[in-house]
Amino acid sequence: MCGIVGYTGSRPATPLLIEGLRDLEYRGYDSAGVAVMSGKGDLEIVKRAGKIQRLDDALDGGERTSATTGIGHTRWATHGKPTDMNAHPHPGTNGHVVVVHNGIVENYAELRRELSECGVTFSSETDTETIAHLMERAMDRGLDLASALRETAARLEGSQAIVAISPSEPGVLAAARLGNAGGVVLGIGEGENFVASDLAAVIPHTRHVVFLADHQFARVTPGAFTITGTDGQPVGTIDERVVPIDPMSALKGNYPHFMLKEIMEQPEALSDTIQSLVSVEPPEIRLPDLGPAADQLTRVNRVVLIGMGTSLHAAMLGRYFVEKYAGIPAEIDNASEFRYRDAILDPGTLVVSVSQSGETVDVLEGMRVARDAGCLQVTICNTEGGQTTRVADGTVYTRAGLERGVASTKCFTAALVALYALALRLGEARGHLDQETIIERIRALVPLPEHVARILGAEQALARVARDLSQAQNMLFLGRGGAFPVAMEGALKMKEVSYIHAEGYAAGEMKHGPIALIDPGFPSVVIATRHALRNKIISNIEQLQARGGRVVALVTEGDNEIEELCDDCIELPPVDQTLEPILATIPLQCLAYRVAIIRGCDVDQPRNLAKTVTVE
Ligand code: M6R
Repeated sequence: MCGIVGYTGSRPATPLLIEGLRDLEYRGYDSAGVAVMSGKGDLEIVKRAGKIQRLDDALDGGERTSATTGIGHTRWATHGKPTDMNAHPHPGTNGHVVVVHNGIVENYAELRRELSECGVTFSSETDTETIAHLMERAMDRGLDLASALRETAARLEGSQAIVAISPSEPGVLAAARLGNAGGVVLGIGEGENFVASDLAAVIPHTRHVVFLADHQFARVTPGAFTITGTDGQPVGTIDERVVPIDPMSALKGNYPHFMLKEIMEQPEALSDTIQSLVSVEPPEIRLPDLGPAADQLTRVNRVVLIGMGTSLHAAMLGRYFVEKYAGIPAEIDNASEFRYRDAILDPGTLVVSVSQSGETVDVLEGMRVARDAGCLQVTICNTEGGQTTRVADGTVYTRAGLERGVASTKCFTAALVALYALALRLGEARGHLDQETIIERIRALVPLPEHVARILGAEQALARVARDLSQAQNMLFLGRGGAFPVAMEGALKMKEVSYIHAEGYAAGEMKHGPIALIDPGFPSVVIATRHALRNKIISNIEQLQARGGRVVALVTEGDNEIEELCDDCIELPPVDQTLEPILATIPLQCLAYRVAIIRGCDVDQPRNLAKTVTVE
């Protein structure tokens, strides 16, 4: 949830750290801080509650210090309120070591008691401070920074990502990844190196990266890095890779917000994803990163799809695709429930995890459960080298580019395409689909990016509907079939960025409770396109109107009958039935964005949220 960045090289560290923190701000934004160190080991720590701008103001942009090594942190509070004091970095008592941390030290109360009994005075309410004191005590006993981190790591319960510096080792960063609390990526530069929670802070400087695996430790200097295991021995092979991300994609360009930019990027994101996964001529479902999973799909007799938030909604639609095209039972589960249930799994079960970041802790823990049960695993991921891709037997990458807005948009629609392609491949492997159907299904994807571009080109027409909806305190989103997950996603987008209470329901459920809420001040957004069980949806609309409820409907172009029934209609181009939900998503994202802007909300950094949820 927090963002960590570290730099060692010859350039001034502070401005680089601030820039890195801005790139990671979507991971947490309630306080921020840096600790920088000169070549002589002079240390300066500055931290502030609030957004990174407050820290930047306190540092005057950071040009004045000559420090060339440092660590920075942007926080999403778990232990202790977002105050200056609780902000990271945290030093040990004598400033011999300073740490930044992402995760939760689950035994921190016990460690705190033990350290207090030894005379240590704590200056914050955080769990992180225990790490700083433990490391400092280890260094005071003569261990070097990297060894002190390894020794301390052995005492910590829970999952953590940690980066530390010490004035007694100028130019050295020590980093650790312990469990699934968040990634640690090394950015390998020329005469300088970076450490960060994720790629966003690294790719403006270098595309050469190494991801730390669970329980790996790194010692990083300007010209070198070593990676060891818990025993301090160098790991066998280092998977250094070049990430295919254009650094420009990390910028907002002419857009006022990342969310809008990313909504608008969907035609390209879909087109890149489609092209990477299928070929039309010759017709082929490629899925180039399925790896060893490719040959094992024939043994799959059941699919369980897991994810959280928006990715869970993608998984919900993925179930429809799998049932339809692979002809095998498919279930979905919220990963945070799946991991604690006694889920019935066996080696014939394919577990498909969906995660934009590849770092969501509940998804990773769900994957651990699946691995222990001997399941085949495929992950749908947008992050090259993300942790889910390292755990799964195979990956279906979405090619949506970096997503910086906390509210996921382009990665949702790209994940839907990936799930569709995976379902086709499963159907092909199991002999459920004939070649003619596969060709027809691949061709159906081709016009999709163009249709999305058309919808986006006309999105200004949503301004009036958004103005009306922005007055509401509550909203209902309704859909049937494949439009049901999209209704859930529409409601999630609305509540995330506009703070309007919104619920997504299967339209058939409406009469079983939600309709009691309907009055003239409680609008409903209904997905009523040609294929969304239209006649039944018409009944739902009539029932809402009979209770004085205002109805905004998404309809297929030219559907005059529904247009007459509703207060407002948003038209979608006619498209292949299975892919219709992807199109229906687009106006719902635009509406959420517009409503949030009218209400003056911070769409890229909604309150209380963080983009990557790496703690429970
Ligand atoms: O990185 P992931 O796809 O695993 O993230 C899952 C959810 O945390 C994420 O989709 C969240 O719900 C977003 N804020 C949705 O906009």
